[in-house]
Amino acid sequence: MSYNLLKGKKGIIFGALDERSIAWKTAERCFEEGAQIVLTNAPVAMRMGEINKLAEKINAPVIACDVTSNEDMDALISKSKEHFGGQFDFVLHSVGMSLNMRKGKSYTEIDYGFNQKTLDISAMSLHRLLATCMKMDALREWGSVIALTYIAAQRVFPDYNEMADAKALLESIARSFGYQYAIKNKVRVNTVSQSPTRTTAGSGVKGFDGFMNYAEQMSPLGNATSEDCANYVITLFSDLTKYVTMQNLFHDGGFSMTGVTQRVVEQMEK
Ligand SMILES: NC(=O)c1ccc[n+]([C@@H]2O[C@H](COP(=O)([O-])OP(=O)(O)OC[C@H]3O[C@@H](n4cnc5c(N)ncnc54)[C@H](O)[C@@H]3O)[C@@H](O)[C@H]2O)c1
Repeated sequence: MSYNLLKGKKGIIFGALDERSIAWKTAERCFEEGAQIVLTNAPVAMRMGEINKLAEKINAPVIACDVTSNEDMDALISKSKEHFGGQFDFVLHSVGMSLNMRKGKSYTEIDYGFNQKTLDISAMSLHRLLATCMKMDALREWGSVIALTYIAAQRVFPDYNEMADAKALLESIARSFGYQYAIKNKVRVNTVSQSPTRTTAGSGVKGFDGFMNYAEQMSPLGNATSEDCANYVITLFSDLTKYVTMQNLFHDGGFSMTGVTQRVVEQMEK
């Protein structure tokens, strides 16, 4: 169902890898709500070719950008401005990767070279994106930037490893840059902290099934799906949420505020 919430709006969506990606669902919902989209992903991810199916469906160009490269980011923002014929309204940062997790390194024995790359891809890339948009005056007044995050930024989930630190940095950048961009051009910047979701990045977390089941049992509403995450994000891109900025917004079925649920108590009694 469409509410025309994004009629006439234009935006860039990072991170649609395949149909399971949160970015994929969000791009589809943005399109249904009337927005024009530019899709982007790392050159290596684009070689898989899946993104072209989405691009065709929502009539969007695909522009490659490795988020760790200043040159790529500059090119993406200037080409997007060209495509849109000027400024645009929103950006979804849906990017994350842990090199140490990929290489099977535990949190207490991380490789610091890999760690720098993880922080660059998963957190500093939001700064690079915002700084590039500001430098090129690419975002319209009341524009909205959303980055996806996870509650391991605030609470310990041991298997989330160095990504917990990356997400804490990401959320801090959303606050710090959110302040600057609000003053400069009334642009808002927020993070959405999503329930565990079965995607390529999600499944990379050790013991992911246990992780997901636990969250399901501990959330009064159950885990939020990627489709619902997309629905939430479009409200944050719309004009109905103009004064929300510098926030970390939990989209997690109540998990973050729950100490314990009856279901978990009953299981512990067994
Ligand atoms: N899946 C979950 O359980 C969950 C929960 C909370 C938050 N998140 C966050 O949601 C976001 C999207 O992840 P997802 O779960 O949809 O998985 P996903 O694997 O579909 O998306 C991750 C994306 O990051 C991209 N990426 C990695 N390195 C990049 C680089 N150098 N340059 C550009 N892009 C790069 C990948 O190509 C991929 O498209 C991530 O920030 C993730 O941490 C996921």
